[in-house]
Amino acid sequence: MTHILRLAPSILSADFARLGEEVRAIEAAGADLVHFDVMDNHYVPNLTIGPLVCEAIRPHVKIGIDVHLMVEPVDALIPLFAKAGANLITFHPEASRHVDRTLQLIRDHGCKAGLALNPATPLDWMTHVMERLDIVLLMSVNPGFGGQSFIPATLAKLREARRRIQVHTLAGGQPIWLEVDGGVKTGNIGEIVAAGADTCVAGSAVFGNPDADGGYRSVMDALRRAARTA
Ligand code: DX5
Ligand code: ZN
Repeated sequence: MTHILRLAPSILSADFARLGEEVRAIEAAGADLVHFDVMDNHYVPNLTIGPLVCEAIRPHVKIGIDVHLMVEPVDALIPLFAKAGANLITFHPEASRHVDRTLQLIRDHGCKAGLALNPATPLDWMTHVMERLDIVLLMSVNPGFGGQSFIPATLAKLREARRRIQVHTLAGGQPIWLEVDGGVKTGNIGEIVAAGADTCVAGSAVFGNPDADGGYRSVMDALRRAARTA
């Protein structure tokens, strides 16, 4: 694949008691983004972190914070996350009454905007909002938990999403990143990138391995190597 690969470790699998240290460590190890999973025990059956935690980690890193909202409703949290230092905000379209409006709201607050699509959510949600998208996130597991297995049907979906993005950019449209989230490991990142992903979230693959020789650096280098050799 010719496009560059961005790695976005998900702090869902980090040590929450040492979050500042953890995000500094992944930045030093070459992470491109901090992936920040927000769960509300309503849209998904789990509860995680909100704008206060985003604000707390913001001064610890220079890289962008990639906020993945798994919440319903969506809109009220957007100004709060923008103020807390988010750079990129994705949400699940089923969780917003007015998807076009929510995308605009994110950009109006100075962040890059995107849709997060569950395994069974069709790509068609992209169709009428292409101009408003900076990123599309394809879930390769059902949202709610780290450490699940990659759903193979995501590969065909990635290829089709890449095709649609290419048609859009070749016609003069803005670039749109294609992110994959869930179950990304050294054993499958090659085929994921070959299918068209340019941004890969990795939670348990990175943070589940704190004692590896060379720490997070060696884990992330291994992911990049595996991505290249596919
Ligand atoms: C799941 C989250 C993912 C998850 C990824 O709802 O959106 O970001 O933390 O973790 P792994 O890489 O362990 O599947
Ligand atoms: Zn996520």
